[in-house]
Amino acid sequence: MQQAQQATPQDFDRVLSSMCTEPHPAARQAAERFLATNPGDPGTYETVAELERDAVDMLGTVAGLDDPAGYVTSGGTEANIQAVRIARNWGDTDDPNVVAPESAHFSFQKAAELLGVELRTAPTAGHRANLDAVSELVDADTVCVVGVAGSTEYGYVDPIPALADIAEDAGALCHVDAAWGGFYLPFTDHEWAFDDAAIDTLTIDPHKVGRAAVPAGGLLARAPELLDELAIDTPYLESTAQVTLTGTRSGAGVASAVAAMDALWPKEYQETYERAMDNAEWLAESLAHRGHEVVGPELPLVAADLSVPMTDELRDRGWRVSKTGSGEMRVVCMPHVTRSMLRSFVADLDWY
Ligand SMILES: Cc1ncc(COP(=O)(O)O)c(C=O)c1O
Repeated sequence: MQQAQQATPQDFDRVLSSMCTEPHPAARQAAERFLATNPGDPGTYETVAELERDAVDMLGTVAGLDDPAGYVTSGGTEANIQAVRIARNWGDTDDPNVVAPESAHFSFQKAAELLGVELRTAPTAGHRANLDAVSELVDADTVCVVGVAGSTEYGYVDPIPALADIAEDAGALCHVDAAWGGFYLPFTDHEWAFDDAAIDTLTIDPHKVGRAAVPAGGLLARAPELLDELAIDTPYLESTAQVTLTGTRSGAGVASAVAAMDALWPKEYQETYERAMDNAEWLAESLAHRGHEVVGPELPLVAADLSVPMTDELRDRGWRVSKTGSGEMRVVCMPHVTRSMLRSFVADLDWY
């Protein structure tokens, strides 16, 4: 057995597969200072509870919403589960369904299974939600229409305003999953946020592109009444109700999210986006030039149909890359991914 004191975590030098990244130094420091705090008990851990309100306000600023309701989740999975739970509790039906594009993250399957909600997945067109296919699946029992702003596999952005309209016409809520894309999208022309469309809830994760320490996800809601759909009585705590899914939560995640956003919003996030997008475009061109079929980049994520039996060989050389469900190689240009990393990655591909 390895001793934790002697074990070293992986470094990020050859990691092209992850949607997490190196935390900002200020985020790392804040996480360490707040290790022994629990925002789940705001009566006892007041400072971190205040920091959580700051985190939610700052996430609202990033996602175009004044006075947001919300909280810092353990990640995108929890935020998506809670968004579906809000919609289920808010909806007026005994047989609720959620309509999402097939590109939606698998956390919606977990949500559906846990919450007894039917998940209807609509085929995509060009890796984005197909509006006709979504409309066909929506009916009187639909409680939520989901749009993805930065899909996990291809980094594509759904037509969020049109999906919000479909939801509104059906009397359903609209949830946007910007877990990964949320800290890149403010610097693009995409319409994805609360000030672009009539969306009700949104997932945006500081522990991905936001450069906070893990775990720090984010759930935002347009109105406090939506969050109240989650309230459970908590008789033995000083606060009387709890909306979160987990009880004890990571104060380190909360503090590091605030520290990262303080340090980086908006200028450095913008610079990070521009660098990452340049890198993604460079990689896409390099792969296309070598005859590979490339998808994207719409955001800094490149998928390519590589014919080499790549994953194992690349893994032997230390690279961490992943595949899409259709078997394309997928490179996520996170903040730690530099041009020189990509140059040596392409040089290794050329070697095969
Ligand atoms: C779009 C999207 N939503 C949700 C998630 C789930 O986030 P987490 O792994 O933090 O639970 C991911 C993870 O990659 C994602 O890409």
